[in-house]
Amino acid sequence: MAMSRTGRNARVTVFAPRIDALLREHRGADLFRLEEDTVGVAGVDLMDRLLRSRPANAEERPTFKPVQGRQVTRTDASALMQAVSADVRAALRKPLGRPDLTGKWPHVAHVYLRDLVFGRESFRFRILVDRRLELTPKLTWMAVAAGTAMLGKPGAGIPLSQLAARALNAENYQDRRFAMYLYRRVAAPVCSTVSALATNALWLGAPFDEGVSNRDILLEALRLLPPSWNLLRMASPEYPAVDGRIGRADDILMFPLLSHRDPRLWDDPEAFRPERWKDLDPDDQPGYLPFGHADERCWGRHMVMPLAERLLDLVRRDGLVVSPEQTVGRVELDGLLEVAGVRMVRG
Ligand code: HEM
Repeated sequence: MAMSRTGRNARVTVFAPRIDALLREHRGADLFRLEEDTVGVAGVDLMDRLLRSRPANAEERPTFKPVQGRQVTRTDASALMQAVSADVRAALRKPLGRPDLTGKWPHVAHVYLRDLVFGRESFRFRILVDRRLELTPKLTWMAVAAGTAMLGKPGAGIPLSQLAARALNAENYQDRRFAMYLYRRVAAPVCSTVSALATNALWLGAPFDEGVSNRDILLEALRLLPPSWNLLRMASPEYPAVDGRIGRADDILMFPLLSHRDPRLWDDPEAFRPERWKDLDPDDQPGYLPFGHADERCWGRHMVMPLAERLLDLVRRDGLVVSPEQTVGRVELDGLLEVAGVRMVRG
């Protein structure tokens, strides 16, 4: 594994070899071949034209791709997003309190968010937002099946999140199973993506200067370590029409990770400088797509930012710092790009 020093501190970020090779070999390139049937794209104009040429299809959507062959309708998808947004809004109204956030992040942040947003649910729901489930889809199915079988209505007076109530109200086993699986699809990223983002921010820059806003810190963390670091689009006829170097059978992987560090677009691209966002509009910044393309941006981003800001508020209020003994942070080749095992201690 090779190293990259991105923060202002002595900490070094070590990327998994494949990510590191991408950064070393293709940063600043528009298009490059990755496999016989896959091209990589990191050029800002080309990404824009490709993403504009057709909407993502059902299989390419990370959250609402079909569940075991059953399509998720747009109505179902927006109802679920509304339910989880309501749960997040309710969580954000709670006082900050005195949680102990020392220990290994992102795990500590994940558990905190799970309890904050979904804490009232009984065990069978909580098991569905467990981080370990990210690792293997098979495990996910086991947990969903177990949860569905255990499912009776809870006693009166047990408040449930809106999201859980939707799953409980389903008519029959098949529908309930479907609803619980979808519950997981939207509940899990609230915990896993937000904890990844906050951890990356702390790793890159904590302790932060007092005058710097959480918003600018997060925008800069999303630039250097975007949790959603690549966008996949399957081969389709629109793409060769956009660029003749793309074949009809080529899948496309687009890399915000690379465009976010393109020296043609950014001053001092490797440096963590939250101040740069004072004068930049994150929704209109060429090559900056941590939440995807303008035409179909992440539906969760309005929940992500305030939750991540709350984590930073707590860390800054309580004076937590990355353990001075920890100077190396690893980023594995995984679904989400995150620094693993960041030890937070009292400063
Ligand atoms: C740090 C946090 C997050 C990041 C960086 C992120 C990033 C992204 C990106 C890049 C896309 C576009 C994907 C593409 O065009 O292929 C996307 C789409 C989407 N995101 Fe997020 N996301 C985050 C959190 C969430 C959360 C918490 C939820 C749900 C609760 C969510 C729900 C969605 C949905 C519904 C879409 C539309 C496509 C689909 O059906 O999956 N995201 N997100």
